Amino acid sequence: MGRTERAVRLQSRKDGNTKMSIRIMGTGSALPARQVDNRELAGMVDTSDEWIRERTGIGSRHVSTGETVVSLAVEACERALENAGRDAASVELILAATCTAERGIPCAACQVQSHLGAKQAAAFDLNAACAGFLFALHTAWAYVEAGIYDNALIVGSEVLSKLVDWTDRGTCILFGDGAGAVFVERCSEGGILGLVQHSDGAGGGVLCCDSRELQSPFVNRSMEIPRIRMDGREVFSFALRQVPAGILEALEKADLSPDEVDLYVLHQANRRIIEGIAKRLAVDISRFPVNLDRVGNMSSAAIPVLLDELNRQGILRRGMTVVLSGFGAGLSCGACVIRW
Ligand code: UT7
Repeated sequence: MGRTERAVRLQSRKDGNTKMSIRIMGTGSALPARQVDNRELAGMVDTSDEWIRERTGIGSRHVSTGETVVSLAVEACERALENAGRDAASVELILAATCTAERGIPCAACQVQSHLGAKQAAAFDLNAACAGFLFALHTAWAYVEAGIYDNALIVGSEVLSKLVDWTDRGTCILFGDGAGAVFVERCSEGGILGLVQHSDGAGGGVLCCDSRELQSPFVNRSMEIPRIRMDGREVFSFALRQVPAGILEALEKADLSPDEVDLYVLHQANRRIIEGIAKRLAVDISRFPVNLDRVGNMSSAAIPVLLDELNRQGILRRGMTVVLSGFGAGLSCGACVIRW
């Protein structure tokens, strides 16, 4: 889009002539090759396949043996562009949602931009942990709504395995690595119908990644190693309290009721959390697809990877009403209603 066109669009927004939203035109995902099932974990910590399946619904997860946040993100983005039938040169904005980027500087989104050859795109990272993809989607919507950009590539990519404490059975059973991406474009009808996002920084201590001082067995000094630490029960009750409330708020903005929604694509943290949310919304569990049994909790990648699976299986169809909701560290929580 040229400067004149952009200026006309901005003026038109000021005059209140156009109402814009974004529509997901293509999806893509990428998972590391190595899979680790519950039985393998039971050989590392005091746990069992039965306990993990019963308490979380997770059976297996993908773990990086060299894949990075950037390499997974690039693969997912390429697939999303191919699925949308667009090329990298047309992308105007790249947002990477991640809390596990290998490098703080330069940001992952700029590295993705370079690999894709998306030369005209502005690119930056956004960290809202497991709500990151939702917050990035909302950010892209705001840019388009303001008339600044016409399209965006949004990717959630995580390599959580490098931050997991593989001796802590309370957390190491939960997480997996992967990336999911969507390509969105401006639309004048449908798209995002209502959205909400909430943050509760005061509750942040229940799920964090702190550096711990560990004595190195190899050199005569201690090392600062970041590791995930979580009060699982607190996060569980936060999710059951906040997610249904956030979804109802987003639905109210879209003037819809829970039973008018075709699919609820939620953050894949724990099957019991998803069942609890379905119950609180009084919606049949069949409308809540899951893939956590195969991929675990991939933080910001969870929602876009599931969207990609549903899209490629032909389960998502144009005109469907879909609710997306992400929640987690921060504490953060977001929901949006979209017409697919
Ligand atoms: O993306 C957002 C991030 N995180 C989440 O969404 C996590 C939300 N929380 C959860 O999913 C659950 O709280 C967990 C799966 C983490 C834990 O399940 P829980 O049913 O809340 O278990 P608990 O923490 O209340 O622990 C119950 C028992 C404890 O033993 P005692 O004290 O009763 O003897 C734990 O030590 O289960 C024990 N336990 C385990 N046992 C076998 C905890 N982890 C394991 C394990 N295998 N992996």
